[in-house]
Amino acid sequence: MIGIFDSGVGGLTVVKEIFKYLSDYQITYFGDTARLPYGTKGANFVIRYSKKITRWLLKKGVKIIVVACNTSSAWASDSLKKEFKNIPIFEMISPAVKEAIKTTRNKKIGIIGTPGTIKSGAYKKKLIKLDSDLKFFSTACPLFVPLVEEGWIDEKVTKEIIKKYLLPLKEKNIDTLILGCTHYPLLKEAIAEVIGKKVKIINPAESLAKKLKEFLENRPEVKNKIKKGSKHKFFFSDEPYNLGKISHLCFNKRIKPIIKDPF
Ligand code: DGL
Repeated sequence: MIGIFDSGVGGLTVVKEIFKYLSDYQITYFGDTARLPYGTKGANFVIRYSKKITRWLLKKGVKIIVVACNTSSAWASDSLKKEFKNIPIFEMISPAVKEAIKTTRNKKIGIIGTPGTIKSGAYKKKLIKLDSDLKFFSTACPLFVPLVEEGWIDEKVTKEIIKKYLLPLKEKNIDTLILGCTHYPLLKEAIAEVIGKKVKIINPAESLAKKLKEFLENRPEVKNKIKKGSKHKFFFSDEPYNLGKISHLCFNKRIKPIIKDPF
């Protein structure tokens, strides 16, 4: 099984991309709805729960961990990789950063995410490590998560809020924008309308899914350990709000949640 975790329902956008590229592997998902949002929590909290969830997923028998939550990826992935050395751990930031570097022509990259992700500087640090000439401009967009969870993907008010956050980035003449949060790919069309056609949008979930596929193709010993089939399990630590809406947006069908708080 592939273990995927997030603070809540947003990680389903990552599952959606993984299904596109790796349709036949069994997935065990954990959304920490009892404790969300992670995006406004401190680093220590996010690290503590990311470790607990990883340990729990490993007990369930997963052979790979995908940290679908960008905030957990930003604050906790280094600690997770240190503590759980024997298991491949994938985070959302590195594949997106590589794709952004390949994409940009003018070396001006925009990054949007939760307050925690932006405060951590994780995207910037990884970008600058690969290309010190890059210029980046980041903005936290905390209102995007509740808008998506409300299902307001295409409302007038949503576009106004997108403008408020993103027009300052547009003025910086970025040519690439990283959607550094699980929920933002569901706003991709509205974001593209505001930011303009010239700006290429990077969906980290898609970059991650491609990287995971490549990894499994090159590592048959891991690949062969992962159960195949469609018996996916979606655990949530508390009732997920508007799961029907989000799962329809991602999969065109309702998924069946298992409510269980192991902590
Ligand atoms: N999953 C979070 C992320 O990608 C967004 C929701 C939250 O703040 O918990 O950063």
